[in-house]
Amino acid sequence: MKKRLLIATGGGDCPGLNAVIRAIVKRSAQTRDWEVIGSIDAFNGIMRDPMHLIELTEEKVAGIHVQGGTIIGTTNRGGPFEWPVKNNDGSWTTVDRGQDLLDRLRYQNIDAVVNIGGDGSQRISQRLFEMGCPIIGVPKTIDNDLSDTDFTFGFQTAVDVATDAVDKLVTTAASHHRVLILEVMGRYAGWIALHAAIAGGAEVCLIPEIPYDISKVMDTINRRVDNGKGFAIIVIAEGAMPLGGGMQYTESEEVGAMKIKLGGAALRLSHELKTAGCEIDIRETILGHLQRGGRPNAFDRLLASQFGVKAFELALEQKWGHMVAYRHPNIVAVPISEAIKEYNLVNLDSDLLKTARGMGMNLGD
Ligand code: F6P
Repeated sequence: MKKRLLIATGGGDCPGLNAVIRAIVKRSAQTRDWEVIGSIDAFNGIMRDPMHLIELTEEKVAGIHVQGGTIIGTTNRGGPFEWPVKNNDGSWTTVDRGQDLLDRLRYQNIDAVVNIGGDGSQRISQRLFEMGCPIIGVPKTIDNDLSDTDFTFGFQTAVDVATDAVDKLVTTAASHHRVLILEVMGRYAGWIALHAAIAGGAEVCLIPEIPYDISKVMDTINRRVDNGKGFAIIVIAEGAMPLGGGMQYTESEEVGAMKIKLGGAALRLSHELKTAGCEIDIRETILGHLQRGGRPNAFDRLLASQFGVKAFELALEQKWGHMVAYRHPNIVAVPISEAIKEYNLVNLDSDLLKTARGMGMNLGD
């Protein structure tokens, strides 16, 4: 009888998920004694009755590495340890179904699980591992906020999208002599903002790691007016905050979703600039989920393929509780517990920030 490997993609989608799935299937096909199963919508596919699982054959995954999203679906709500249940009065509560998930994996004769996901998904992987689940993690997220890997896949494609947006905003800002603010994703980390701001040549970049002083931002705008340039591009991370202030967010009412939905940093900044006396016109662009959709770029396809092959090989070695990681130029295995210990945030002493400052970029401090 063939061994069975189950793949789940969890959390917010990102470009490159399909390339990982394809790589696992192709590598496993070389052994001839494994079959690969996909759990639809993260672990929901195995948790629901009836179960929703699909066989992932070489035919099924042919050519999918160029497609965005994930052919097996995903969700960033709930999960096995916080499974949403509706009460009789219509309200919702969550229950721990971790053991039930393990029982179902056993019932399905699953010999290995590969959980492709970001911080939240890898926390689930770690808990399942501690309960005895034979699990391997693969780090994905546009936010690049998982520790112990140089990059997560999906990040570089998001940076491409954000950089393209900066390029486009430059021409319209210059024509109209305006301040254009671009809000990008990244949760509590400023990676996307900083990379896109440097690549696109923005004048100002505001990230969660450096609370901004609005008067410093005004200095740059005034200088751009005085030196005749007359326009400025500001890239702001969704998690950026003013000195003494907090992140801008709304509380989500979606059942089982993360309560805090970041967003609104650009509008708040626009208001703060007007209050601080900015006289030239300001417009805001919120890039949103465009950063998560569409085709992965070549870098992310490559990284995702490397992660997929390595994940299968870790399963062959039974290196349970490990996550594949990129340590240039190698793909290595790290304990999942290390990767989720703390967020990977922009280091204030990093060369990346030195580059930004060296180019004269205003970081709000
Ligand atoms: O973690 C990826 C991410 O896109 C973050 O950058 C963003 O804050 C969040 O997910 C958005 O989540 P949702 O898709 O639920 O709106």
